Amino acid sequence: VQPVPLSARLLDWYDAERRHLPWRYAPGQAADPYRVWLSEVMLQQTTVAAVISYFNAFTTRWPTVSDLAAADDEAVMAAWAGLGYYARARNLLKCARVVRDSHGGQFPDTEEDLRRLPGIGTYTAAAIAAIAFGKRAVVVDGNVERVISRMFAVTDPLPGSKDQIRTLADSLTPEERAGDYAQAMMDLGATLCSPRKPACGLCPWMRDCDGRKQGLAEQLPAKVAK
Ligand code: ADE
Repeated sequence: VQPVPLSARLLDWYDAERRHLPWRYAPGQAADPYRVWLSEVMLQQTTVAAVISYFNAFTTRWPTVSDLAAADDEAVMAAWAGLGYYARARNLLKCARVVRDSHGGQFPDTEEDLRRLPGIGTYTAAAIAAIAFGKRAVVVDGNVERVISRMFAVTDPLPGSKDQIRTLADSLTPEERAGDYAQAMMDLGATLCSPRKPACGLCPWMRDCDGRKQGLAEQLPAKVAK
């Protein structure tokens, strides 16, 4: 009997337990790249709970990237107030205008082209490619680093272990359901695989997790002392 692959087990868990968030789509529903991009930029340094009301306000006032591109700078900065890291808001406007002026109002669909846009780095480009365009992409943020370092009992400390963690994350990433898989990893890291007191008993990867088997889960990821 073939064991069910790890990615399939994670996707089953996600189908049952996913968090319902305003930028997420029901299975089979086409994703709107504008909403995916906006949510990912807002979530770069801000928690999900804090982002929800801002995301709803922005998408109500500026429903498309062209609407946002045409907005007054001051109106956008005022709407952003409270989210912090204001360089993100300035880049948000710059990016919306580049998409309007150089991409015909459509976000590009490859990681490489997305990374050329203002405010979009490695993580955000991968997240948009996967979630908005269904492209296989290795999406690694802090939550995913924690999940992967535990799963494979990576005891080398961050940040030196980043490449190793990325390679391991790549090895688990499926071709299918790229966006759901990326968001399932985020949800696993944000809920069960929490920094302290992880809920291993509920985890779809419990039997496979080297960190748990070695009694190390709660200590990982290791970090270089500051
Ligand atoms: N953090 C960053 N992107 C996210 C997403 N799409 N869903 C939940 N949390 C996230």
